[in-house]
Amino acid sequence: MRFSERVSELVHSPIGAAHALVGLRSNDRPLLDLSQAAPSFPPADAVVTRIAQVATEPDSGRYPPQAGLPQLREAFAEDLTSGYEGEISPDSVLITAGCNQAFCVVASALTAPGDEAVLVAPFYFNHDMWLKIEGVKVRYLNPGQGLIPDPQQAQSLITEKTKLITLVTPGNPTGVTIPSDVIHGFADLAARNDLALVVDETYRSFRNESDSAHQLFSNMDWAKNVISLHSFSKDFAIPGYRCGAAVGGQLAITEALKVLDCIAISAPRIGQEAALAGLLHAQEWRLRQADRIKNLEQQFLEAMRKEPGGFKVESSGAYFGWVKHPRSDLPTEEVVKKLVLEHDVLAIPGTAFTVNDDSMIRLSFANLEPQQISELPSRLAEFP
Ligand SMILES: Cc1ncc(COP(=O)(O)O)c(C=O)c1O
Repeated sequence: MRFSERVSELVHSPIGAAHALVGLRSNDRPLLDLSQAAPSFPPADAVVTRIAQVATEPDSGRYPPQAGLPQLREAFAEDLTSGYEGEISPDSVLITAGCNQAFCVVASALTAPGDEAVLVAPFYFNHDMWLKIEGVKVRYLNPGQGLIPDPQQAQSLITEKTKLITLVTPGNPTGVTIPSDVIHGFADLAARNDLALVVDETYRSFRNESDSAHQLFSNMDWAKNVISLHSFSKDFAIPGYRCGAAVGGQLAITEALKVLDCIAISAPRIGQEAALAGLLHAQEWRLRQADRIKNLEQQFLEAMRKEPGGFKVESSGAYFGWVKHPRSDLPTEEVVKKLVLEHDVLAIPGTAFTVNDDSMIRLSFANLEPQQISELPSRLAEFP
């Protein structure tokens, strides 16, 4: 059997690779796991109760409508309408099995092998991987000051083959929130060049700002060039139930739905019911969790203020700290291995998110307890 070179050239999942290192540990000291960006806490009671109830309903095992349960499309359209300036119709919402699948179906609907896409560096690795699987050439836009990308600089990366530009805000791995005027600059760029601006808003509830993340939806013509992607995984702590959404114009939804039909037919019904229960009954819970995680970020920044062991926070936000490590003489994979085996700290190497080794690691503080964060500086300070 022979496999696709596009797939065999890819690295294994960086999260899986980090977890494989844990199996090599011989220390007894409990591990500080700063690797994963998925909530490790249970969902709200109302969500759990609804999940159990759905399992007993006669249609629980049936395919849901392909674009998603109408009640969920409606409730999410309302949630977006109240969170942004501008009205979103339920027809603009395509429910997917998570935001990763939303990106995949949208990117496949937009591109053919040989086309090009622009990702902002450091990028979310699954975006890069999917585009490569699809045979799309990725051009990387290095961000400017404060890790904010510049739409004018992006213009120089656009060719007649470019089909999409992707922004992730707040970013994974940087945590940086892209200011609304910059997002609008990218939307104008997309409109001028007849391409799609795909905005992954997985972490929008975890911003420090309470105003709307952008005002793109208030432009009557937004759907000509903008597709916004969402996840229910973090907002309602249901990553395993796989539910997310793509929000776009009629044509974008129709084209993406063809791809979704082949991959999954529809997002799982039970995950959609869980997301719907969250939207209807766990909004306060969602705000409380977001506040709790913002407090963890403050504690993380305080813990890192004196740059323990020479580790320096370059940016933070949402779930993440993007941190420079002190050993530019070593490959970052080696540093991550030493951290886990000798210092009991599990991090993701920055090389999962960048083309070159820039001596960076990603520390995800959102799953730690406050007392675990207080232990972090002394562990990092042990690092030679
Ligand atoms: C930027 C970004 N997009 C998408 C996802 C995946 O979200 P989902 O669980 O909804 O597929 C993640 C998860 O870590 C992420 O960081």
